[in-house]
Amino acid sequence: MPASSHITSLRALEILDSRGYPTLSVTVTLDNGITASASVPSGASTGAHEAVELRDNNPDRFAGKGVRQALQNVEGEIGGAIIGMDVCAQPDIDRVMIERDATPNKARLGGNAILGVSMAVARAASSVLAQPLYETLAGTTDYLLPMPCMNVLNGGKHADSSLDFQEFMIVPVGASSFAEAMRYGAETYAALRDLLHGRGLKTAVGDEGGFAPNLKSNEAACELIVDAIEAAGYRPGTDIAIALDPAASSLSDGEQYDLARSGTGLLDRAGLLALYGRWIDAYPIVSIEDGFGEEDWQGFIDQTVSQGSRIQIVGDDLLVTNPRIIREGIARKAANAALIKPNQIGTVTETIEAVRICHAAGWGTMVSHRSGETTDAFIADLAVAVGAGQIKSGAPCRGERLAKYNRLIEIEAELGAKARFTNPFVSRPKPRT
Ligand code: PGA
Ligand code: ZN
Repeated sequence: MPASSHITSLRALEILDSRGYPTLSVTVTLDNGITASASVPSGASTGAHEAVELRDNNPDRFAGKGVRQALQNVEGEIGGAIIGMDVCAQPDIDRVMIERDATPNKARLGGNAILGVSMAVARAASSVLAQPLYETLAGTTDYLLPMPCMNVLNGGKHADSSLDFQEFMIVPVGASSFAEAMRYGAETYAALRDLLHGRGLKTAVGDEGGFAPNLKSNEAACELIVDAIEAAGYRPGTDIAIALDPAASSLSDGEQYDLARSGTGLLDRAGLLALYGRWIDAYPIVSIEDGFGEEDWQGFIDQTVSQGSRIQIVGDDLLVTNPRIIREGIARKAANAALIKPNQIGTVTETIEAVRICHAAGWGTMVSHRSGETTDAFIADLAVAVGAGQIKSGAPCRGERLAKYNRLIEIEAELGAKARFTNPFVSRPKPRT
């Protein structure tokens, strides 16, 4: 290791994300001349308990979405607190930022400001150590490539389609490597485009690169995906399965779930659970994320009891990558997996801790992008570093989505025979198809 690797400056820029909204890019400079940058993602269907994304709320700039205050916090107060620290001391740097912020949800300095610094620090440390980022992040020696879950039909808050549910993902469970999984996914995505085109439906894409057609029902989305899997020459369930993210917080008023767009209408907790049950019987579904609203713990608990042995139940808005809330979720048996989004919690150290808590409890983990992204591929390295087992980064379409998948193809090639790739769903009973 070079003798000195201390932080000498922090700079930030207000850049734009994939939706054209402002976000932060942070650059760390060290006394040995090394610099490293990272950019921060941003969600649309955010959980109420996520780390606070600091926005200026100045209506004269970006309709209030500017991040100049967060930028000033990076260059001012955070810089003042961590300049001089050893860049390889990630947990210490993250702790100093958490303590300086002194709120439970990073509301004062901003989760976006803190995460940008935390990610840039990790990247600078990997340069200092002359290691790939995935090695620096968790010191792993078991190189597990994640199963990609590709969001090919977009609804909910991510598109103006007729779909109530936010994400319909394809999961190449039968693929033998990450690169092969991407080929399965890309071929199915192309077949889906052809099917839509042939049926006179729109092939324009939503925020995460999936198609956003107007279909007659939510079920029609699953049917269409099964047709596309077959049209691409794959066996539904055996080669390629389906994962859903209804993002049900967006459908809930706290009492009922309103599936208005598709014309399904209002469902209560039991009605929605029964709908998932019918779908699990009818389609090769291996995972449902946020099937219930973030305040509806009972919905999650009921689903885990009745469907958790057949499919993966993932908490996203429910658990918000927060070690404390994940522990609660484990204690209450409210899911059997967690979505892992660094900007929900706000530091790299806490993100890694969240994964470790899940794995210690036998839970699955799916590392995730946000609907607002940049070409920063940090989460690709993170997924390998923590052995997450799964990643979702949208469709195999749009540069900011492919940046992560392509980085994983690179990592797999670089690791050669050391890379492992397995189907994380094999230990659960196969759904009937
Ligand atoms: P978001 O959605 O990034 O728009 O919050 C992603 C998700 O709900 O998984
Ligand atoms: Zn989600």
